[in-house]
Amino acid sequence: MDTSLSPVPIPVVIDCDPGVDDAMAILLALGSPEIELRAITTVCGNVPLAGCTANALRILELAGRTDIPVHAGADAPLIGAPIYGRFHGPTGLGGLSLPAPSTTAQPEHAVEKLASELRRAVEAGKGLTICALGPMTNLALLLKLHPDLKSGIDRVVSMGGAFRSPGNRSLTSEFNVLADPHAARIVYEAGIACVALPLDVTHQAMTTPERCALFAGGAPGSPLAAAHALLERWARHDPARYGGDGGPMHDPLVTAFLVAPSLFHTAPAGIFVETDSPLCYGQTVADWYGRSGTALIATKVDADGFYRLLAERIARLERMTA
Ligand code: RIB
Ligand code: CA
Repeated sequence: MDTSLSPVPIPVVIDCDPGVDDAMAILLALGSPEIELRAITTVCGNVPLAGCTANALRILELAGRTDIPVHAGADAPLIGAPIYGRFHGPTGLGGLSLPAPSTTAQPEHAVEKLASELRRAVEAGKGLTICALGPMTNLALLLKLHPDLKSGIDRVVSMGGAFRSPGNRSLTSEFNVLADPHAARIVYEAGIACVALPLDVTHQAMTTPERCALFAGGAPGSPLAAAHALLERWARHDPARYGGDGGPMHDPLVTAFLVAPSLFHTAPAGIFVETDSPLCYGQTVADWYGRSGTALIATKVDADGFYRLLAERIARLERMTA
């Protein structure tokens, strides 16, 4: 499998709501030399903000990367009350039990950390990639408070939306977008390069016993063992909905897109978000003719190739932390 082993690592900030699949995406990033993970910013989503922030700290400590700063962000959407995830368990890390983190988040708000990383990117002349794995509230606030820093963004690569697929939290809408559709609309209408990995493609990357077995054999307390525990209770056992017993591994597809873009097919499209209709609130609609926007939407993924990459890179991380 060709990976984008760029000689110069891609500067990245992951904005997330850990979250079982967020945790897998972070581990994949940490095990991939193509990525220079500058910071993790957190947003309320799968669990309330404090839980997401503590989980980000836990995952970095597990991986021996407490040098990477964590900054807490929005604890509610731009408008309305927060909604939370249903599949990540009470801690937000599903079947993975980790002790309370021994580190704390930085005092600077997530939006200001993102802004300082964008200033750094502008000065360096190398754009920042923002991986958006949760509701896009922090990114929307960043764009509204610091519109002059847009030039520091190389692209926003997000897990979110459902175009030809039904929603996973309402009939029409995917959780990350439904949790803050106004934020998603601000991001998609900002004129920045966006890549969306929607349910249309994440539901092609379902866990199976064979794929979960790729993560077996890790030493207790290791990243590989943690990944196996994260996957263990991820199965949905709902073949009518998912076409099999497994669960959809959403967020790590974002990190995989940075590392091995050849695993994916994409189509250019304009992306629109419904923010008024009670029935279709948070629905994402694509202009597949690409006449009204410059986004890319991932439409296909080589799922087996993705799981091989995910397991290989987390096993690599294990060797780095051994
Ligand atoms: O709809 C799936 C998305 O919502 C994933 O990012 C998951 O972690 C939750 O945030
Ligand atoms: Ca997420």
